[in-house]
Formats: sequence, C-alpha cells, structure tokens
Amino acid sequence: MIIAQNTIQQILSRVDIIDIIGTFVKLKKRGANYLGLCPFHNEKSPSFTISPAKEIYKCFGCGRSGNSISFLMEAEKYSYVEALRWLANKYGVEIEETETSPEYKQQQQAADSLYIINNFAQQFFSTQLFETDEGQDIALSYLKQRGFREDTIKKFQLGYNPEAKDTFSKAALAAQYNQEYLLKSGLVNNREGVLNDNYRGRIIFPIHNQSGKVLGFGARIIKKNDKAPKYINTPENEIYVKSKVLYGSYFARQPIDKADECLLVEGYTDVVSLHQAGIENVVASGGTALTPDQLRLIKKYTNNLTIIYDGDNAGVKAALRGLDLALEEGLNVQLVLIPDGEDPDSYVNKVGSSAFTTFIATNKKDVILFQLNIALAEAGNDNNKKSLVINQIAETIAKINKLEDFSKQQAYIKQSAEILKIEESGLIALVNKHIKEKVYKDETKASRNQEFLNEAVDNALQIDNDAALLLSKDEQHERAMVRSLLEFGNKPWNDEETVAKYMFAEIAENQLSDLIDNKNLVRLLDTYKIWYDNGIEPTTKNFLYHDDVELSTLAVSIMDFNYEISPNWSAHFEGHIPTREDLFKEEVFSTLNYLKLRKIKRLIDENQLELEKAIGNDEQMICLQTHQHLKQVEMELTKQLGTVIFR
Ligand code: UTP
Ligand code: MN
Repeated sequence: MIIAQNTIQQILSRVDIIDIIGTFVKLKKRGANYLGLCPFHNEKSPSFTISPAKEIYKCFGCGRSGNSISFLMEAEKYSYVEALRWLANKYGVEIEETETSPEYKQQQQAADSLYIINNFAQQFFSTQLFETDEGQDIALSYLKQRGFREDTIKKFQLGYNPEAKDTFSKAALAAQYNQEYLLKSGLVNNREGVLNDNYRGRIIFPIHNQSGKVLGFGARIIKKNDKAPKYINTPENEIYVKSKVLYGSYFARQPIDKADECLLVEGYTDVVSLHQAGIENVVASGGTALTPDQLRLIKKYTNNLTIIYDGDNAGVKAALRGLDLALEEGLNVQLVLIPDGEDPDSYVNKVGSSAFTTFIATNKKDVILFQLNIALAEAGNDNNKKSLVINQIAETIAKINKLEDFSKQQAYIKQSAEILKIEESGLIALVNKHIKEKVYKDETKASRNQEFLNEAVDNALQIDNDAALLLSKDEQHERAMVRSLLEFGNKPWNDEETVAKYMFAEIAENQLSDLIDNKNLVRLLDTYKIWYDNGIEPTTKNFLYHDDVELSTLAVSIMDFNYEISPNWSAHFEGHIPTREDLFKEEVFSTLNYLKLRKIKRLIDENQLELEKAIGNDEQMICLQTHQHLKQVEMELTKQLGTVIFR
C-alpha cells in the first residue's frame, strides 16, 4: 500500500514543527525561534534551535538539521512512511492508500493474521504460566528458581505451553483461527488432520519487533531431554525473518540510544537477566553470525557494538564471522569474554550487576587486535603462517573504507604494526593494495576502467575529509543565490513580476550552467522551474518535504537560520543590522550579480588564452575587442554591486 498524494498534502498542511518536536524536547521561545536541549547529542546548554517560520531545526552543537519528518525519522528511527503515519495519527488525518499488487495484498493479509495469532498465543501462554497449577508448579517455579523476578517475566511477556498434546491448539481452534495461518506460525503441527502443539512443556520467549508486536517465539524445554532440542524457534514466515531479528531490540532501543552502545549476547536468557540487573542496552543474535540486516538495525542506534560471549564457546567464532561486515558498516566493535564457563546470564547472577558492569567496562578488547593476537599466537614461529596473518590483518583494515573512518584505519595500522613488529610504512602499502583490489573487484562488476579506479582510490586516500567538507567560497555564493530564490521567490520584485520570474529571466539570459557549477544546485533549480512553470507555487515547504531526500537535505542545508547576510555583500552593510527580509531585493540582485561577475571573469580568462594562441592580426584584433567589451561589462557589474540601492 502506498500513501496517497493528497493524504500527504493534508498531513503536511497541518504539520506544526514546534508541536511535533515539543513532544520530544522541552522548548523555550527565544526571539522568533525556539531553543532546547539537543535530543541527538549530550549537552548541558541548549543549542538545538527551531525556526517555526521556516519549519526547520538545526543544532548548532552537533550540526544536525532537518524538517518535521526528518526529525521523526532521526529521533524515532522511523522510515519516511512511518513518520507520515505518525503525523496522520497525531493530526487526525485519515490515510488514503492507493492499491498495490494482489501478491502484496496476500502477503499483507498473511502478516496481519500472523500478528493476530501471535498476540493471542502470547496472552494464552502468559495465562498458562501464571494462572494454572501446571504453569505455576512447573514453569513459574523453574523461572523463579533461576532468579527471574515476576516483574521481569511480565515485562518480557514470558509464558508457558502445557505438556498435554493440544492445549493451545484447542484454544486456537475454539477462537476460530485459520488453520493455514496457525501452521505458518509454527505454534502447531498437523498430524493426520489433527492439530497438535509444537512447544509442549516449554517456557515461551516472545520475540518482539521494533514496535513491540510479537513476531515469533523461542520455546525452551524445561525438563532435560537428550532427544528434544533445547530451543524450538518460530520457522521463517511472512513476519518472522530470522536474519532481521535481534531478540530484545524492542526493549533495548532507547537504552542503546542513551548509552550509545549496544551489547550483543547469545541467548534469550542472557538478555532477560541483564535487563533485570539494570543493564538494558542488550540484544541477542541467537548464537549465529551477525547478518547485514541485524548490523543495520544496530547502526540505527549506535556505532558502538560490544560483543559479550562466554570465553570457551564456539559462539565467539560465529559472532566474529560477522565482523568484517560490521567494519564495513563503520561500527566500532569490541569484545568481552566471560570467564570460567559462565555465560552473561549466569555471570550476572553470580557477581551482581555492578561487578558485571565493571567487568565489561574493564575487559573490553578491540576485536581486530584481539583476532590479530590470537592468529599471531597460533602462527608461532612459522614465517609462512605469519605472513598470512599480516595479509589477513591488512585485508581487514582495508575494509574500514569509509572516509570518515580514515583516522581509525591509521590507528589500526599503527597498533598492528607494533604487535606484528613490522614497518608501519610496509603495512600501509599492503593495506592500500587491498583497498585497490577491493574497489577493483566491486567496480569490475559495473565494468569500469581499472586505471580510473586506481586513480579514484589514490584520490580517496589523499583527500582530507575535513577539507572536502569545507565548501569552497564559490559554492557558498552559488548557495546564496539559490537561497534567495528559495526564500524570496514568491515575493514581488516589482509591480509586474515576482522575484522568481525576475531571477529566471536573468538566469536564462546567462545560461544556468554558466552561473552554477554544483550539479545538485542545478537540479534543485530545475525542479523549482518545473513547478513554477506548471503553476505550482514553489514554496520552501515543497522542497523541505520533497520525497527525494537528497533534494530536501540540500534545501534544508541551504536555508539559513540566522539570517546571515550573504558573503559577497555583507561588507557594504557593516555597522547596520538589517535582516535579510528587509533587504531581499538587494540580496537577490547581488547574489545574481556575483555569479554573473564570476562568469564574466571566466570569459575574460578564456579570451586571454585565445589571445595567446591567436594567429594573425585579425584574430588578435577580435580577441582584443572581446576583451575590451568583457572588461566593460565587468566594470559595470562591479559598480552596480557597490552602488545600486533599491527602494
Ligand atoms: P544456549 O544453549 O547458550 O542457551 O543458547 P541459553 O540462552 O543460555 O539458555 P539457558 O540459559 O541455558 O536457559 C544460546 C542461544 O542459542 C539459540 C537460542 O537463541 C539460545 O538463546 N539456541 C540454542 C537455539 O536456537 N536452539 C537450541 O537448541 C539451542
Ligand atoms: Mn544460559
């Protein structure tokens, strides 16, 4: 289902950014703006600013900015559609959805039914645990004997499925649930036309999605039995996709955000016990290698992942198998091994929560260096094996390939070189080789040219990220021009035309591509022009809520919070404090003029080159005349910039 366009329009027309952000952040009015403590980073004095007039926010501490929707996406980790639904709900807008394919509809129906059945089952199992003799005697007593408190059991909605062969099946059929979906849910099986329970005599751990709905279950046997598996888990179906699930993520969401760290353990009981001990930023993977989807889920909340496993367990290896992926996703991964054959559940029960927390904090090992040390110890004095280890670590370090992680990569190279007792420069060269190889591999899939690739890699390595982020002076001027169009386009320029009309006439005369270099700014202007030509009033709002995120981000980043005077003409108004609103005509005029002037200067340079190459008097004459003409235009533009004052 897709949300209909006019629903979106209705929602957006009601959006009140102060109201929305005010739900999450305590705000104070300060002049035209509102101020509060930034929800995205820790701060003591408020630098998070909202402009209700522009419907945007910006934090002057951490630099995050956006609109109501991007706020919800960031603060609540919603998708674009989820944010719209939240707003629709808040403002009482009825969502109209447009039709999608029949397959999709069928899948949606299955998903809905499975959620309903799981919800029923969860409640059934809870009731069995707390309100039947069998549940209390066998299951509740077992849980309590393991140290789980009743409030913890209720929070995680743990339950019990009785030993008889069909207690749940009977209840589900009596409640008229569809047999097909019951089978899909994995709660029951079908033997010769009769439904029987799958989780007989087991403790039930419901597995929740991000919003707390039950996706499936893990069912732990109580009585030791060598033939039956310890846990039975929900089979893959329309809603339970194991590779996308992290047990406990619903409860851990906010704590992870707050702690800026995610603890990863193996088992259901580890999660529940740590929660009970007050350590809530914890999820479980079920002992398998982390999948890309699970890593992405973690990355939504934090960049810091701490894997806590028992030391002598094969699970560590499984967890580390996901490691390279984690590095590529830019996660900082650390490892803590629990000693003496304990697991996090038993260890926290043994030593208590504060000793556990201290243990974690003081025993974190960097996972890359941990692996390196192990491999090195295994290689011993064998030089062949040692060189394999060196190559391996170079390959791993090469995976830290995001530009922003450059310094992290450097640090790893330094530390690894020390551990390996090899020359740092040699390791750098090796890492570079691996990076090139990787890019080459990736890009040959897209069949590109190798030489170009190597160049690109070398470049990427040389580029200083900070420097790249600093906008060039020229681009600031381009942005200033687009900003004046975005903010003043609908104002009257004179009796006949709007600012937008005037600007587009000027732009057309000078050719857009001659005025603006930045491709995205050109795209934004093109979009504006299309709307404008089609009679849509291109308000800034249209851009802020454009579903092309690149465009909307660009628009937000261009919009100015402080009404700063654009760079090229601030000099003329020193001493005054006019606002940009007061002076919009001057701003429009001067931002355009600056770019026109730049164009003329470029033409003069080009002409100069032609003059140097000119052969014969005629050609030289033409160039000189052109030069004179361009100089004339340049002078006029310069003069206008300095003198022209509008009413
Ligand atoms: P463990 O055997 O360590 O169990 O498996 P546990 O979670 O510590 O449970 P207790 O403390 O003995 O009661 C770790 C995880 O591996 C998955 C489960 O997710 C389990 O929590 N597992 C284990 C299965 O899926 N099936 C199994 O048969 C065993
Ligand atoms: Mn355990």
